[in-house]
Amino acid sequence: MSLFITFEGGEGSGKSSVIKVIEEKLREINFNNYITTREPGGIKISEDIRDILLDKNNTTMDERTEALLFAASRRQHLAEKVIPALKMGKVVLCDRFVDSSLVYQGIARGIGIDAVMNINSFAIDEYMPDVTFLLDLDPEIGLMRINKNKDREVNRLDLEKIEFHQKIREGYLFLMNKFPSRIIKIDASKDIESIASQIFNIIIKRINSEKS
Ligand code: TYD
Repeated sequence: MSLFITFEGGEGSGKSSVIKVIEEKLREINFNNYITTREPGGIKISEDIRDILLDKNNTTMDERTEALLFAASRRQHLAEKVIPALKMGKVVLCDRFVDSSLVYQGIARGIGIDAVMNINSFAIDEYMPDVTFLLDLDPEIGLMRINKNKDREVNRLDLEKIEFHQKIREGYLFLMNKFPSRIIKIDASKDIESIASQIFNIIIKRINSEKS
């Protein structure tokens, strides 16, 4: 049994905190057959690409370059970490995957979903998530959460205007309608604990149905 689960959402939607709580819950029930990861996932080549992507000085980056670099970073993380774990029959919980590119580069940057999907198809080679949790939140609230958290580094994409983040939210909702059987919308305005419990219950059901 393997299960590829991804988490998506705009800035400050709480993905990483929610994943941490889910991880604790899995450990509590002694379920150890999983990994949690995020792009670029500690993979050296992907980290190096990410440094270029998020560098605040790279203000002249062309949007197609941005899309290609995200796809390249994704490929390496997938090949080095995600595919081996899936082949070992693990549950993979991944913070962001191809939907991030479809929404950020395809919709918000305006390259188009189909064009971004084309370059990503080459990168992911049919490895699509089994389930995707979309942490949906008003970007005004998301950005407020980020600004409160002083420890979090501000990256190039955080500096975008509110309209950009609004487009991200709408883009994700559009994707959800396009892939209704894969993408599950979660109300991310609730507290982290209740969001995590809701997602955890769905994951456990999926694990059990994969087993049977
Ligand atoms: P990160 O610090 O990982 O943000 P978050 O904590 O919100 O996940 O920074 C990743 C940034 O890159 C984030 O603004 C989303 C953006 N991004 C894309 O534009 N396209 C992509 O394919 C991915 C994976 C991320």
